[in-house]
Amino acid sequence: MKRFEGKVVLVTGGNRNTGLDLVERFVREGAKVYMCGLTAESTAEGAAKLEQRGVEGVVSVPCDISDAAQVTALFDTIERESGRLDILVNNAANQGLGHGGPLEMDPAMFFDVFKTNVVGGFQVTQEACNRFFMKQESRGSVVFLSSNTAKRAIRNRTAYCSSKGAINSMVRALALDLAPLGIRVNCCAPGYIYTDRWDVLDPEKAARRRLNCPLRHEAKGSDIAGVVAFLASDDSANMTGEIVTCDAGCSCQHMPEDVDV
Ligand SMILES: NC(=O)c1ccc[n+]([C@@H]2O[C@H](COP(=O)([O-])OP(=O)(O)OC[C@H]3O[C@@H](n4cnc5c(N)ncnc54)[C@H](OP(=O)(O)O)[C@@H]3O)[C@@H](O)[C@H]2O)c1
Repeated sequence: MKRFEGKVVLVTGGNRNTGLDLVERFVREGAKVYMCGLTAESTAEGAAKLEQRGVEGVVSVPCDISDAAQVTALFDTIERESGRLDILVNNAANQGLGHGGPLEMDPAMFFDVFKTNVVGGFQVTQEACNRFFMKQESRGSVVFLSSNTAKRAIRNRTAYCSSKGAINSMVRALALDLAPLGIRVNCCAPGYIYTDRWDVLDPEKAARRRLNCPLRHEAKGSDIAGVVAFLASDDSANMTGEIVTCDAGCSCQHMPEDVDV
């Protein structure tokens, strides 16, 4: 018996990078998976990549999760086609790249990042709970993707780091309120993950990043998928409100080896 046989899963941002591995993991473990990207084009591109990997049966629906009407339409599709939802993975993120430092960044950009990462994630979770989890005997499980940057900042990413800190707090608050209702809310906080952004990285910079990892390598998307699947599954039935770090040991080190003198 596969772990997610008979389960219906939604992965936001499932069309790219880590999202593709999350979708693949749930499909391989028996789930019916819905995924969304921000635009029709990027969602279709993701669907094509999944097909190339031999990941079948995924339903892809474009949805800007920061837009309440689009979130409602996405859930209308799931309700019409599957009539249930068991697991929500809040993976979509605005990376807040290129906004510059805190002295020059446009505050509107800060708002954009929060609109997707915090308000969007909340909106999707609320809809999942009201539309499905509260009506199902087996309730449901929510997993957010945060980041180790919620606790230890990286440069020129004020909005992103702040949004991930807000996600950690939101996970604990949601977990507390939803626990009596039988709904679990947990979180995976990755460090470096290999994505297509590494493909254009100066090899020296990539090597330096790896040296910054006590385990000497960044996560693969499938490493993150393993943690998320655990948190979504009954294997973590007695866990809620947890933030599980998966960062090659970065959070436990004070300084990388080459400057630890
Ligand atoms: N990569 C890392 O090293 C790293 C480290 C720590 C934490 N994380 C977290 O892990 C998760 C996955 O990271 P990643 O690097 O694989 O992500 P990514 O490559 O930046 O992809 C982000 C995904 O979110 C979608 N998205 C963005 N805004 C959206 C919106 N408003 N509505 C719906 N979808 C939206 C994007 O869709 P489009 O493709 O249509 O734009 C894309 O699929 C994220 O939550 C990220 O913050 C990543």
